[in-house]
This record gives sequence, structure tokens and C-alpha cells, in this order.
Amino acid sequence: MIKPKSKNRKANATPHPPPPPQGGRGSWSGVVQRYRAYLPVTSKTPVVTLLEGNTPLIPARHLSERLGVNAAVYFKFEGLNPTGSFKDRGMTVAVSKAIEKGAKAILCASTGNTSASAAAYAARAGILCSVLIPEGAIALGKLAQALIHGARVIQIRGNFDKALTLAREISRSRPIALVNSLNPDRIEGQKTAAFEVVDALGDAPDIHCIPVGNAGNITAYWKGYREYKAKGRSKRLPKMWGFQASGAAPLVRGHAVDNPQTIASAIRIGNPASKTGALAARDESKGLIDEVTDEEILDAYHFLASKEGVFGEPASAASVAGLIKCARKGLIKAGQTIVCVITGSGLKDPDTATLRHRLSPAVAPELNTVLEAIGLS
Ligand code: F0G
Repeated sequence: MIKPKSKNRKANATPHPPPPPQGGRGSWSGVVQRYRAYLPVTSKTPVVTLLEGNTPLIPARHLSERLGVNAAVYFKFEGLNPTGSFKDRGMTVAVSKAIEKGAKAILCASTGNTSASAAAYAARAGILCSVLIPEGAIALGKLAQALIHGARVIQIRGNFDKALTLAREISRSRPIALVNSLNPDRIEGQKTAAFEVVDALGDAPDIHCIPVGNAGNITAYWKGYREYKAKGRSKRLPKMWGFQASGAAPLVRGHAVDNPQTIASAIRIGNPASKTGALAARDESKGLIDEVTDEEILDAYHFLASKEGVFGEPASAASVAGLIKCARKGLIKAGQTIVCVITGSGLKDPDTATLRHRLSPAVAPELNTVLEAIGLS
């Protein structure tokens, strides 16, 4: 039995929460409400939502120019979800379904974002959340999120893959619902991002670029694109281009990586749980899964922030780094439409953001000194 930390934490999800008068963000009521017909929910499902989804598709003017071909590139900026990553789309469905089935507690292993999202949705629903994280290996902002939302944070002396193995084992034998992307409800929720891309563009893009870690998200996007096409909402399917960090690239190597290493801690994964889905997305779409080095990731990360004004986290920049690499190889044709997913907010990882940028010492509060510091003297 899992004992609640505080006695007054009761499940408080109501079966039919009314949409807010103004819907929070315009008339938006979250991905379950918007795409209900495509999701495994019924009128009996108690929807736990933070009004996730409806994220912008931002034209990438500078990146389009940098590629040197006349392509139309967009960022799907998932950092604008309630907890700052795409995980919220899957978590609203996974937590709602868990509550429908009577769960009082949820569990996940995480490189950071899943734990932040699970903790927030569990708090919202009034249930317990435990998270297993690799010791010292998740970004500070994500750790802060899991803690502030009241999750039990358990550090494992081992990597994400080990933490996930343990989480699976525990959820098989104990009354605690696993909310990693092995849970099909997570994939269902995350596929709504593909629907939004098609709704915004009027059709699927030619190419969809995405970072790959545990491989749930590439699986989810591909499912979303296929389902929307089957319903006549789009005329075509994109090529799925997935990118792993060179030090954590099991799908590129063709075998699990025992000791995955990369600065992009969110995708530091050596044995992706949704490997089969990722390979199917690659093969069925005639796409690719390639690797990008940490140097290429950091270059794309800084380019995004300093030229496009979009602050994504390092793992998110892998999709942009991969696109730049493929453009260099001549894989992009003029006139193509390309979407790069920026999976999480850069605010989550202040340490990597400030690695290259040192604050200069304080100056005297005098006009001339300040003008000189600005370079206007
Ligand atoms: N980008 C970010 C910011 C992520 O947090 C993750 C995964 C990915 C990309 C890769 O997505 O695993 O579906 O292939 N983060 C997980 C976590 C593993 O625990 O937060 P994926």
C-alpha cells in the first residue's frame, strides 16, 4: 500500500468538469475536448486537464534561409504547454484514463519532463505520483517542477533505462498506474500534435523533424498523421525524420547503448521502449533516423534562441540540428514544407543555457559607465 504524504489528498477529479467561461486560452478546452472523437474517452471519463495543446506553429525565417533551399520551415513549439513540454498532451489522457479505472497513484521513470508533467496532472487530480529519475542527470527546472507539484522523487543510482525497467516491474505487481509512453493512452494524447499541425497547415508537411529518446513521440506523431489522413483531413503523409544524440543513438547503431551520453539529458536513453514504433514510422514514411553530435545540438540550440527568438531545451534542438545536417547533404528540395518539433522549453535547463554566456561584473550606477558598458559612449 502507498501511504499518502498528507491526509487530505483525495481524488477530486469531477466526471464532467465544465469548460471555463472563456476556455482559458480563447475558447480552447484542452486536447481531449478538441479531439475527443479520436481519443479513447467516453462521457464517463473524468477529464483531468490543464488546457494543454493548441501550441503555435511558428515560421522559421532564419532557419529557412540558413538551409539555403527555398523551403518553408516551421517550429511546433511544444514548450508552451502547461508544464513546458509535449508530455502534457499524453498525460491528460493517461491520468484521465487511470482515474477512470480507479487509480489512486501513478508512477513513471523519467529524464525530467515526464516526471514534471505526471506530477502536475497528479496534483490536479488529487492522486499520488512517484517518479524514478537517474541520479544527478535531470535538468534543474524539471526537478523543481516534480518537487513543487508534490511528487515523491526517487533518484536511482543508474540511468533512465534502469529506472524504466524498475518502474515497469513495480507497476506490474503493485496498484500504481504506469504513465510512461509504454502506456498506450500517452501515445493517444500525443498524436494530437500531428492533428494540430495538419489543422494549421491545411495538409501534412512534406517532412517532419523530431528528436528521438524513448521513441514514444515519433510513434505518436506518425499515428496521428495516419489517422488524420484516413479520415480525409489531409491528402498526404510526411516523411518522418527522427534524430538521436550521437552518444545515445541505439536506433542508428542498431543495438542498445549501455552507457548513453549526451548534453541533451532528456534524450539520454540507450534502449528506447517504443523502438518498434519509431522504426515503423521511419520505414512506412520512407523517412530516416540519424544522429547529431552534441556540438551540432548546441549550435542549433543557440541558433534557435539567438536568431529565431525561440528558447527550446537542448534535446529539442536535435530536430533542428538534424534538419541542418540533412540540408547539407542535399536532402531537401525547394518548395517543401517542413515542421520541426521544439519539444520542451529552454527555461527548464538554465545550466546549459548559461554555459556559454557569462554575466559581466556589475558596474557603478553612473550614466557614463552604463553607456560605456552598452557600447554607446
Ligand atoms: N524532447 C524532450 C524535451 C523530451 O523530454 C523527450 C523525452 C524527448 C524529446 C524524446 O521523446 O522519448 O518520446 O522519444 N523525454 C522523456 C522524459 C524520456 O522522461 O521526460 P521520446
